Amino acid sequence: MHVTHLALTDFRNYERAEVSLAPGAVLFVGRNGQGTTNLVEAIAYAGSAASHRVSTDQALIRFGAESATVRVRVQHDDRALVIEIELNRSSPNRAQVNRSPVRVRELPRYFASVIFAPEDLSLVRGDPGVRRAFLDTLVVQRSPRFAGVIADYDRVVRQRNSLLKSAKASRLSPDNLPTLDVWDERLVSLGTELIVARADLVDALRPHVAQAYAAVAGDDQVTRLALKLSLDDDNEGELMEHIESPEVLAEKFRSRLAGVRRAELDRAVTLVGPHRDDLVLTLNELPARGYASHGESWSYALALKLASAEVLRAEAVAGDPVLILDDVFAELDEGRRERLADAVGGFEQVLITAAVGADVPERLAATRIGIAAGTIEQQDAG
Ligand SMILES: Nc1ncnc2c1ncn2[C@@H]1O[C@H](COP(=O)(O)OP(=O)(O)O)[C@@H](O)[C@H]1O
Ligand SMILES: [Mg+2]
Repeated sequence: MHVTHLALTDFRNYERAEVSLAPGAVLFVGRNGQGTTNLVEAIAYAGSAASHRVSTDQALIRFGAESATVRVRVQHDDRALVIEIELNRSSPNRAQVNRSPVRVRELPRYFASVIFAPEDLSLVRGDPGVRRAFLDTLVVQRSPRFAGVIADYDRVVRQRNSLLKSAKASRLSPDNLPTLDVWDERLVSLGTELIVARADLVDALRPHVAQAYAAVAGDDQVTRLALKLSLDDDNEGELMEHIESPEVLAEKFRSRLAGVRRAELDRAVTLVGPHRDDLVLTLNELPARGYASHGESWSYALALKLASAEVLRAEAVAGDPVLILDDVFAELDEGRRERLADAVGGFEQVLITAAVGADVPERLAATRIGIAAGTIEQQDAG
């Protein structure tokens, strides 16, 4: 799929802006602070209702405005869709597809993009939550009904936590908590579903990560991806390299919950489940987090994103996801720039931002669009 048109009102530093886009590579060039990242952030937002930079939407609405709109027209084969999102400071956001209201969390059904940006270094170096969010975004892109599963699971964890808190406050016996037993079953069934989906995704990513790492780094280091599950018994948590059957996982989950019930009542938090898991990234047998160099971490993060795009590309009936490379080329040496250009050249649409156009290989600059102070300049032929 590809984006054919973008219109913004009061989004970040754009008061009003519109631009038409061609398939293939599109380069947005502007000096720092002019709005190139804001523009691609808006496009990615149309498929995820989330920003790659901030966790709340307030910063996305132009300073001084009460609401913002992002309107994106996308082309899937011969089908065109108009996706429109209204972001509101003091009321819930609203979304429409072809003028019919849809739930915001349903947006991944209509548009898929994969964005790689400098912030993604935290995929390798950051806390487990960053990697869980990475997996879950992709789980939903592969299978949109998981937006509901994940929302339900998160709600069960919250409700279970508040139940643990009140049980603790009223000093109830850990062995006589029938309401907690009910929540445990919900936690196990939704949690197992999510673990299985993540494990299946990790299996799908693995060969693409290996290939993408070699492609961008230009050498053949050994990458290894494995889930670390909090429901495994030992303190460290075992690495799960292959999918176990849902029944086996659910049974382990149940017995582990029974084992930690006393500790959970003490701390009033849910200690076991996919909200406490991690994706362990290994490079040449060492954990990338803490061991990999800056350049290696960068290549690893980029490989994870390219692999994401490849997985979606292989599976999506709607064609390739739109690939977005935000401020990436300035960080790369000449060899890596060329290899990255080769790796992304075949995608239906690749949107690239750069402060210096010359950092981006010529073949990715077929369409060049200038950005200055929240204004999209007239397109030229490059
Ligand atoms: N909500 C907002 N309202 C007004 N301006 C904003 C808002 N959010 C960000 N900006 C401004 O947008 C400018 C450009 O941001 P960005 O797109 O990240 O820059 P770049 O072009 O270097 O990628 C910054 O100067 C920032 O102050
Ligand atoms: Mg930028």
